[in-house]
Amino acid sequence: MRREPPPRDLPSTSRARVAASILDADLGNLAHAVKRVEKEGTDRIHIDVMDGHFVPNHTFGAKTIAALRRRTRLPFDAHLMVSNPAKHIEEYLDAGCDSVTIHVEIGEPIEPTLRAIRAAGRAAGLCVKPKTPLSALEPYRQLIDIVMVMTVEPGFGGQSFMADVARAKLLSAREYLSHKLHGGEVHVDGGVNRDTAELVGALGVDVLVVGSALWAKGRDMAREIRLIRAIADEGYQFGLNNGVPPIPRDRMVTFASLQRPQARTLREEVEAAGIPVLLFRSREDPPEMDDEVRRWDVLVPASAEAAAVERFAERKAALRSVAGPSASSDSSGPSASSGSDASTAQA
Ligand code: DX5
Ligand code: ZN
Repeated sequence: MRREPPPRDLPSTSRARVAASILDADLGNLAHAVKRVEKEGTDRIHIDVMDGHFVPNHTFGAKTIAALRRRTRLPFDAHLMVSNPAKHIEEYLDAGCDSVTIHVEIGEPIEPTLRAIRAAGRAAGLCVKPKTPLSALEPYRQLIDIVMVMTVEPGFGGQSFMADVARAKLLSAREYLSHKLHGGEVHVDGGVNRDTAELVGALGVDVLVVGSALWAKGRDMAREIRLIRAIADEGYQFGLNNGVPPIPRDRMVTFASLQRPQARTLREEVEAAGIPVLLFRSREDPPEMDDEVRRWDVLVPASAEAAAVERFAERKAALRSVAGPSASSDSSGPSASSGSDASTAQA
């Protein structure tokens, strides 16, 4: 029997994410470019907006982004290299950007724009040019979900990676996201390719923006994306994580097994702290058992498990003690099981 070939990439098995910049694509056929990067396995699309004022170059605006939005299901990270983002921020949000990152060096007030992005439920980012110190982010700590570090001067694709800037800033960038238990991201933008991915991986980067390395003539784009992701993960494992493989970003682990009302209460409280939660029928109880009596697994991302244990272990124990007889034994210690089973319905 003929089988479909396996997908060319398996993003859930890696930690590093690749955001394909379409700056160096064929600008006369951007619809094709976004469909292509999706097919070739990128995790998201990085869209460089330039106003000819903040940087000496012009690219696309919100209308182009809105038109591209209909062509792909991938998340859009907008990188606004513009002097006055406030003026058009609603247009970028309406265009369907999943995250919007602005520059900290602009002359106008930054806070209202960050607030507008967050009010729309999107991730808000701040970007620093190579010569800007990270301390410029200090006043905005509580308002950002993304710290983007430029390792080239903004304005053009295809420039050389500034390793010194990466070494000086990438690890420290994480400190500005320390208020986020889950979901904060450090992005690196400029000169990222298979030769520089190991270093940035070893500096803990979450999202690698890759432009010209993907569009070089004759290059196998899918392979390049896979390689860059894998090399960044290697860098992380051996440069930062004592040889321990990184936790794949999408892996979920069972944090607690409780009867449904208590499981729902715990879900609400954990989610309020910024950690996403899934509820599934526990496989510890027989499938025919009544939903109101059986246990439900409370799953959290493996990468946020330590934070969940630290903040909610006592609460979990308290909720277990109010449960009925079937939930009295909680088999789930940390990392009791992983993965969600599509055959079990969510609560
Ligand atoms: C430069 C842009 C980058 C650019 C990166 O101002 O912000 O996103 O596309 O391109 P490469 O990967 O070629 O440096
Ligand atoms: Zn960019």
